[in-house]
Amino acid sequence: MLIPDGVRDRLKSFAEDVREGLGRSGQKTLPSKYFYDEIGSALFEVITLLPEYGLTRAEERILDEHSGALREWLAAHSVVIELGSGYGRKTRRVLEALPCGQPITYCPIEICPAALESCVSGLKDLRHVRVLGLEAEYLDGLNLALARRESRERALVLFLGSSIGNFDRERGEEFLRAIRMALKPGDAMLLGTDLEKPLSKLIPAYDDSQGVTAAFNRNVLARINRELDGDFDLSRFEHVALYNARERRIEMHLRSVEDQTATVEGVEIEFQRDETIWTESCHKYGPCEAADMAERCGFECRDLWVDEEWPFAESFLLAV
Ligand code: AVJ
Repeated sequence: MLIPDGVRDRLKSFAEDVREGLGRSGQKTLPSKYFYDEIGSALFEVITLLPEYGLTRAEERILDEHSGALREWLAAHSVVIELGSGYGRKTRRVLEALPCGQPITYCPIEICPAALESCVSGLKDLRHVRVLGLEAEYLDGLNLALARRESRERALVLFLGSSIGNFDRERGEEFLRAIRMALKPGDAMLLGTDLEKPLSKLIPAYDDSQGVTAAFNRNVLARINRELDGDFDLSRFEHVALYNARERRIEMHLRSVEDQTATVEGVEIEFQRDETIWTESCHKYGPCEAADMAERCGFECRDLWVDEEWPFAESFLLAV
């Protein structure tokens, strides 16, 4: 079979990251971006519908409730760039808030080709929106999208769903700074962050009763099996969601239920019983924390909306 260059490069860096993350002697890790192949993206979509996972509905309530204010802000921004659009279900609400007469370009940036394709084709009915999908990582995609705009066009970056929470606090702020550097004064960003809340709500959101999050977590091993010729036995890894109170974050791990050896691309990886692979961090924030981070990076917070039912904050940030 002929493997296109792009696919080969992607497999190569996947293999390198797996080798690096699982080959080390201390805490084994896997980058959370590898959750999102076609199956992982579909599983995440189901997570957003679970009764225990209040984040997505909270953000949807905020976007609905403030669609008037959003429309005013968007009137000045003719290019909307979304970092990690997924299937774009939430984005519909933002784009529908626009007055029909105003033509805009929407650039979803997404690493999962299946999710991107369905995002692009799902928005075809919005006549005033020109959709340009970019299969890329966040900053590469952002720079590609910005390079295509005309000089008079202003950009609005959407970074929704608390995806910033995957970065630790320091790296999250660095990431906001990198976004700001790519923008011009007058551009803007809508940033969603999940807020600290009682563990009785937080833990079930990441360890749901139907086991969807567990399947999502294990899918990264299944993906290694499929794409890198691995032989992980998924039934011998347990889903773990714990709250790290010092770092104020949920951590997801996969815990080996016994001593075992897995093979990836011919290389053996040993696991001791109860040893974990750390697969994701989901940082939780104070109500103004994200806005404060952004303000240290050259943004000005112009609006801050909080959902009370499921504490979640949406910050409207202007690049100054
Ligand atoms: C996509 C990073 C926002 O942190 O809540 C959901 C990912 N992981 N359930 C989150 C996720 C497990 C999600 N983000």
